[in-house]
Amino acid sequence: MVSKNGKAIENMFSAIAPRYDFLNHFLSAGIDRRWRKQGIETLAPGRGFYLDIACGTGDLALELRRQSREARIAAVDFSSEMLKIGHLKTAGKKIAIIRGDALSLGFRNSAFDGITCAFGIRNFENLESGLKEMLRVLKPGGKAMILEFTTPSNRLVRAVYLLYFTKILPLIGKIVSGHSEAYDYLPQSAVTFPNRAKLVRIFDDCGFEDVSAKPLTFGICDLICAKKPSS
Ligand SMILES: C[S@@+](CC[C@H](N)C(=O)[O-])C[C@H]1O[C@@H](n2cnc3c(N)ncnc32)[C@H](O)[C@@H]1O
Repeated sequence: MVSKNGKAIENMFSAIAPRYDFLNHFLSAGIDRRWRKQGIETLAPGRGFYLDIACGTGDLALELRRQSREARIAAVDFSSEMLKIGHLKTAGKKIAIIRGDALSLGFRNSAFDGITCAFGIRNFENLESGLKEMLRVLKPGGKAMILEFTTPSNRLVRAVYLLYFTKILPLIGKIVSGHSEAYDYLPQSAVTFPNRAKLVRIFDDCGFEDVSAKPLTFGICDLICAKKPSS
């Protein structure tokens, strides 16, 4: 399995960047778009400052823009190849695309009203450091909205899903992307990621409040919302 070393993760995403969007939508039958839409609806962005971390090719930042014309949006990722595509897709949308590491963001404390991350935190070399960095750049009372893969708790659904996720998806991913490890890494990293209850505890322990996690689509994906305490 690809290690969660930042450089290895960055290289892996840069290698699959050209086929990333196609495979994302194809392998999820387009459901990923609905998850992002639902996530941003829950965040309900207004006219403040918003940061999308691990932005990849920019789909979540674009959804933010769709739902708020007034938001000031920045999007950060460390893969230059993902960002190249992100630059093209976000042209004219007033989204600042910035290369950077989510574990060490180049922003001052309390800069953002909202922070978002779709399918990024699973890849962090150190999850707690990433969450604390989110808290640092959020304003007191600011909101975080995170989407992340998880595995369904219903045994039957879980069995069918795991068959697809661990056998069929890696095969299609490998053929289409030409990358032998990235689409093995996806199910492995999701299956070994903390489950919903544990994840909520980790957010709490890192200092977030009002942490909630909502299962989407039979619990394939979690929509996590949390707040930075007001004082
Ligand atoms: C599965 S993709 C998700 C991309 C996008 N958010 C989306 O919804 O499609 C994960 C992204 O996280 C980025 N990433 C992972 N760890 C990161 C880190 N520490 N700092 C910045 N980007 C990171 C990768 O480069 C990759 O583009």
